[in-house]
Amino acid sequence: AAGMLWGGRFTGAIDPLMHKYNASIRYDKALYKEDILGSIAFARANSKAGIINDDEFKAIERGLLQVMEEWKQGTFVIMPNDEDIHTANERRLGEVIGSDIAGKLHTGRSRNEQVVCDMRMWLRDRIREIDGQLVAFLKVIITRADDYIMPGYTHLQRAQPVRWSQWLMSYAAAFTQDLERLRQVFERVNLSPLGCGALAGNPFRIDRNIIAKELGFSGITLNSMNTSADRDFLIDFLVWNSIFTNHVSRWAEDLIIYSTSEFSFVRLADAYSTGSSLMPNKFNGDSLELLRGKSGRAFGQMAGLMMNLKSLPSCYNKDLQEGWEPMLDSVQTVSDSLGIANGVIATLKVRPERMEAALDKTMLATDVAEWLVRKGCPFREAHHISGRVVAQSEKLEVSMDKLTLEQLQAIDSRFTADIAEAFEYETSVEAKTSQGGTSRSSVLEQIQILRAMLD
Ligand code: ARG
Repeated sequence: AAGMLWGGRFTGAIDPLMHKYNASIRYDKALYKEDILGSIAFARANSKAGIINDDEFKAIERGLLQVMEEWKQGTFVIMPNDEDIHTANERRLGEVIGSDIAGKLHTGRSRNEQVVCDMRMWLRDRIREIDGQLVAFLKVIITRADDYIMPGYTHLQRAQPVRWSQWLMSYAAAFTQDLERLRQVFERVNLSPLGCGALAGNPFRIDRNIIAKELGFSGITLNSMNTSADRDFLIDFLVWNSIFTNHVSRWAEDLIIYSTSEFSFVRLADAYSTGSSLMPNKFNGDSLELLRGKSGRAFGQMAGLMMNLKSLPSCYNKDLQEGWEPMLDSVQTVSDSLGIANGVIATLKVRPERMEAALDKTMLATDVAEWLVRKGCPFREAHHISGRVVAQSEKLEVSMDKLTLEQLQAIDSRFTADIAEAFEYETSVEAKTSQGGTSRSSVLEQIQILRAMLD
């Protein structure tokens, strides 16, 4: 271990498995850029504080930019003692500009703040991208919001007719809240930890706000001890991801049901479907099933990190390194999911004739009761009367709208010929003009509100 960056007080070698177990370079190298930008900003602050002179700063900056170029070009060689991205970059800087000057880079600084800085910068930028993907997804959803009438379900049983656009907008409403939540997460992620040291703060009077500004942070964290072990910004993102992928899974589940032969309301494009190695007839919705499945993984990552943080003593502990992989994986996965979900809805074949065929007139029983209410009948009584109409139509095996006026009047004398209007799906749907309702104008209003938010 004497060869390690921190090896001064060590005489014995590190166990090879322990070295592998301890090292994070395998995954944290993905953040080489953030790590280097953070180092440059820190070195500049040290030069402003008079800890290193201008020439030394310039040498460090030039050297770090070269190291960044090596990562970019794929020529950076990871050495056996490179434990993580911070030590690897510092080791290489020493080779490039000489260790006399490179050795000054880490003045007043700890990997505990570096790791938080890298993660916060990286996550902030990924959140911006995910935000863009989510906006794009919502925009595609809007383009698919046609006003076909379909059965609306509760308990997965036919309930009342609704518009297809209303069903789509029901998910858009959830995704819109996710977008708002994501933007709140961004604010909490985008704070600079630099200048907090390992736990106690910085003794060289560096200006934390100037570093923060240079790195594009909107502010700085409050307390050095809290900062070094705080992963709430990551928990926030993983919670967000759990909620969002949960919505996606419900949306996918509806589409899986709607794409069965029994429903056939929609058909997935070939591009998002797969076949069976055995059954030639199969046309499987793997894209939707994976979208549904990813939510379990997202929740697991959130719960896993929560367990990791529970009862952790104050300040940095190596357990915190376990946050890396859920962060990297969740970002990649949700980004892929958004791409797939976008493609699925953009290319989905929608079959209004199948939706119409799945409607049945008993779904208008509430409308019959409401027709009676308009004639002055108390709703509880109207509910009963309409229920008897449903029972009668089932008993006679005729559709509710095909019962004769005499048959209806035998149930309740208040029925007149204009009850016929209550038996129209269009009338039923168009009656729901409340804000957020399923009438054409109410859905359009929802779409307008969402559009205004997206532009
Ligand atoms: N690789 C470490 C991590 O990701 C960096 C911080 C190491 N700090 C320390 N005191 N050992 O958490």
